Formats: sequence, structure tokens, C-alpha cells
Amino acid sequence: MIRKRKDIVTLEQFIIQQEQNFPYATGQLSKIIRDIVLAARMVNREVNKAGLVDIIGLTGDINAQGEDVQKLDIFANEQMIDALFKGNMVCAVGSEENDDFLIKEGSRGRYIVLMDPLDGSSNIDVNVSIGTIFSIYRRGGLDEALTKEDLLQAGTRQVAAGYILYGSSTMLVYTTGNGVDGFTLDPSIGEFLLSHKDIRFPKSCSIYSVNEGNYRDFFDGTKEYLRYIKRDMESPYSSRYIGSFVADFHRNLLKGGIFMYPGTHQRPNGKLRLTFEANPMALIAEQAGGYASDGRKRILEILPEDLHQRTPLFVGNKEEVLKLEEFIRNSGYGTSTENLND
Ligand code: AHG
Ligand code: MN
Ligand code: MN
Repeated sequence: MIRKRKDIVTLEQFIIQQEQNFPYATGQLSKIIRDIVLAARMVNREVNKAGLVDIIGLTGDINAQGEDVQKLDIFANEQMIDALFKGNMVCAVGSEENDDFLIKEGSRGRYIVLMDPLDGSSNIDVNVSIGTIFSIYRRGGLDEALTKEDLLQAGTRQVAAGYILYGSSTMLVYTTGNGVDGFTLDPSIGEFLLSHKDIRFPKSCSIYSVNEGNYRDFFDGTKEYLRYIKRDMESPYSSRYIGSFVADFHRNLLKGGIFMYPGTHQRPNGKLRLTFEANPMALIAEQAGGYASDGRKRILEILPEDLHQRTPLFVGNKEEVLKLEEFIRNSGYGTSTENLND
């Protein structure tokens, strides 16, 4: 007997419902989400057979940040760029895997997409969750040339952001500034189904996620906060760190937690990128009742000067990130060498 499942909503149905709520929506943004999902399906297919075919391993190339590039990074990058440009709604794409913006000449697309096509790539060949992160901005008037101000906007100006998590199941989580919803891919029908409606951070924080191997190089405020949550609290938090930002963020979003990638004395701006990683997750966090900070200020208000700019990042339950900011403030230190001097 087939039990009737109630209230199944596909991503497509959800998008149509959302558009009906906003009668002036042109449908262009929805088209971009669909294009991203199309590319993500292709990536998902390759991720699932990563151990079977000769797709893992180094290509020998170095990406814009001087790091090793794995084949799946390139595959994901190409699929995303292809889907976005063929979709015709996007005039420029900025990717972690490309030094500079890719501009589609003559495009009438009103949108700009920034992305980390494959996040957590060091986890590919050990069968651990990885993801794709995207962030969507609107450009100025179509009749004026694309400017630096169009390409490098503050995170507050994102019109949508999301991620696809290739985990024990594949999920899409995204926001268009009206809350956060999560969809799980049903592989048997190839559709994303609404599985997590209106995601909010749980009230309490119970997890901290940080690469504590770097502890001795953290600035004092970060160290003091970590000492506090480990030694001074009545019931200490659990430590969970996967090393794939998407996966760490996703777990903390559902269970309550703080993710940290602090600056260190060697790397005052940390490791993660403002445009590809911090901003999209900051928007999702805020839309889910959380908060993201560089230790001193709101991530979303930082005006990027460079596409590949890095930032220290603390994101998760709002009260927890505010507490961390207080520790940094009270330590008299900022999160970077530059901050130390002011
Ligand atoms: P990417 O694979 O896109 O280069 O990102 C890797 C990032 C991020 O996913 C993760 O949070 C972080 O690197 C882990 O860094 P450490 O190994 O230094 O902890
Ligand atoms: Mn990444
Ligand atoms: Mn990446």
C-alpha cells in the first residue's frame, strides 16, 4: 500500500507561490535560482561518483589564491558559469576559481552572481560533505556601463543567497530576503522538495566550530572567548568542526552554534573570502535570526575592495556572536594587525 504523503511542495511550486506573493516580481531572480539548481544537479551527480571515476585528484593548476585546485572545483565552476550565462539573466560572475570577474559582453542581464563553486574541496576525496555557495546582486541601470560599484557591493545589497550541501542527502538552502527555506533532493524523482520551511537558529547555542589547531596564533580576544566557553560556562558547548564551511554552517544553523574562522597573527584577515563565503552565509544567518561579524562589525556592511578579499568570520546564534564581539572589544585588540594599531 502506498501511504499518501501530504503537503509535498517541490522547489518549482515553492518558487511559483513566492512569485504570486510578490506581484511585481519579474521572474528573473527565480530563473537564476533554477539555473543554479540545474548546475548543482550536475555537480551532485559527479560528487556522488567521485570515488568511482577519475575525477578526484589534483590538476596541477593553482587557483587565484595560490591553492591546489581539484578537478571537481573546476567542473563545478564551469557548470555554474555555463548555466548562469546561458540563462541570460546574469551579466557578470565572480568566482573563487577565477582571478577576475567574467563579464558577458552585450548582456542585458540585470544580475551579478558571486560564488564559491565548491566549498570544502579538501574533503572531496575523503567522502565528507562539501557544498556550493552563491550570492546574487542587482546591477545599476542597463544603459550605463557595468561599474566597480556594481561588481563590488556590500553584502547588505544581496538580493538572494544560498548554498547547496552535498551531504548524506543533497540540500538547497536559500533566502531572497524573506526568511530561509531548505529543500532536500529526492534522487528518485530528481526534484528538490521543501523539507525545512522558515529555518531559524534554535534559541540556544550548544556548539562551537573552529580549527583550534591555530589557537596559539589567535588574537587575545578570541582566545579569551574560547577559554570562557570551555572553562567558565556551567555546561560547556560541544566542539564540532568538519572543515567544510557549508557543512559546519548548516549543522550550526539547525542545531544552534557559532562558527569561527578568526584572524591570526600570521593571517590577520583569516582565510575565508568576504564575497564568496562570508556575505552569503551572513545574509542567510541574519534571515534566520542569527548574526555574522568580523569580530568588530557586521559582515554585511563591509564594502569589498577586492573580489578575493578575506575576512575573519564569526557567524551563528546572534547572542553568541555578540558575546564574542564583546570579548574582542574588552581585550583591547581587534582581529587584525591593522586593528591592533588603532
Ligand atoms: P574551499 O574548499 O572553497 O577553498 O574552502 C575551504 C574552507 C572552508 O570550507 C573551511 O571552513 C575552511 O576552509 C577550513 O580551513 P582549515 O583547514 O584551515 O580549518
Ligand atoms: Mn570555500
Ligand atoms: Mn572553493
